[in-house]
Amino acid sequence: MATPAGLPARRAAVQALHTILVVGRTLDDALDRAAGGLCPRDRALAAALVGEALRWLPDLDRRIDRATATPLPADARARFVLRVALAGRLRLGTPAHAAIATALPLLAGGPRRLAHAVLARLEREPEPLPAVPTLPEPWAARWRQVHGPAAVEAMARALASPPPLDLSLKDPAATRPWAERLGGQSLEPGHVRLTSGAGLEERPGYASGDWWVQDLAGRQAVHLLGEVAGRRVLDLCAAPGGKTMQLAALGAEVTALDRDLRRMARLSANLARVGLAARTVVADALDWAPAERFPAILLDAPCSATGTFRRHPDVLHRRTPADLPALQELQRALLGRAASWLEPGGRLVYAVCSIEPEEGQEQMHAAVGLGLVVEECRLLLPGVGPGDGFFIARLRRA
Ligand SMILES: C[S@@+](CC[C@H](N)C(=O)[O-])C[C@H]1O[C@@H](n2cnc3c(N)ncnc32)[C@H](O)[C@@H]1O
Repeated sequence: MATPAGLPARRAAVQALHTILVVGRTLDDALDRAAGGLCPRDRALAAALVGEALRWLPDLDRRIDRATATPLPADARARFVLRVALAGRLRLGTPAHAAIATALPLLAGGPRRLAHAVLARLEREPEPLPAVPTLPEPWAARWRQVHGPAAVEAMARALASPPPLDLSLKDPAATRPWAERLGGQSLEPGHVRLTSGAGLEERPGYASGDWWVQDLAGRQAVHLLGEVAGRRVLDLCAAPGGKTMQLAALGAEVTALDRDLRRMARLSANLARVGLAARTVVADALDWAPAERFPAILLDAPCSATGTFRRHPDVLHRRTPADLPALQELQRALLGRAASWLEPGGRLVYAVCSIEPEEGQEQMHAAVGLGLVVEECRLLLPGVGPGDGFFIARLRRA
């Protein structure tokens, strides 16, 4: 019998979803592993299915549970196959017969009759998805308390579809011509926003290294550092290098440090593609020490990344608030190291792509304890502002 169209993509999507939700790997990593060998069309379909399943997971699970007499265990393969089938059916317009024909072969030796019954029942008694996805309750509950119900509503709305794609330009003076050439919109000098990232590497300026992908909010961390042209800047936790490229393009003399060898290889490849230079160091910032102090340091600390959930909806399910204390401790330790490497009067920007107060505002108490002056703090919320969520603070050594 012929393989139904879309089956390889669905098989990969089920595997990737399992790798994210059960093993705890990131969306990008899980997709690379599960769909890396597929043709570009199937890879794109697998990515879209996993993305939609993650954006709408509580809503899809509610429908699956409504259609089964006893709820399927959280790690049951049938639940993963049904999530992918429903993501296709309810979000990507997969016809009913194709959703069923591509789901059942994925349950060889498993509860095919059950899956068939669930999908058939959901066709007989359809329940459309809500206009706004339901956020996982552990995050929604704390964000309602911390950011208020109106902000949480806006954030949930922002989760409904993949966000636009932001590019940073090597030459901010050429913003308008690049926006026109790329058919995008610019929200600040050096930035162009595209509606979608499809076929990115074929777009003008990719091969010639005139731009790189970087969320608009992430750019603000470098802006907050102030004038960097001709200054020595330590970019701490630098890989894969979005901010390193931004700093180098502004004429800073950058030392980029990260402990992850693979991510640093990507940073070096990114720098080579755009024709910019930085001194690179692969080291753990908790062990390393520089030969001399720096007038400017950017610490883009590892964090829960909850601010990136529009682009990385896996964070909502891989991470829980219980992860925060360990991250907070690591951030505090990194802040301590960075503070000790700052020249008197020097500036330190602390940034996290997190919207959790523990990783942002609360770290400012630690900064003050380290003898730093907190000059400015910004909290950016996804769906409320135009980019990802971030906490960014500019600190100064007195
Ligand atoms: C938020 S990401 C950095 C993103 C990067 N600044 C950019 O703009 O592309 C955090 C980085 O911190 C690195 N990291 C985590 N703990 C570290 C440590 N103890 N020392 C050095 N780097 C660390 C991770 O490998 C990761 O690349």
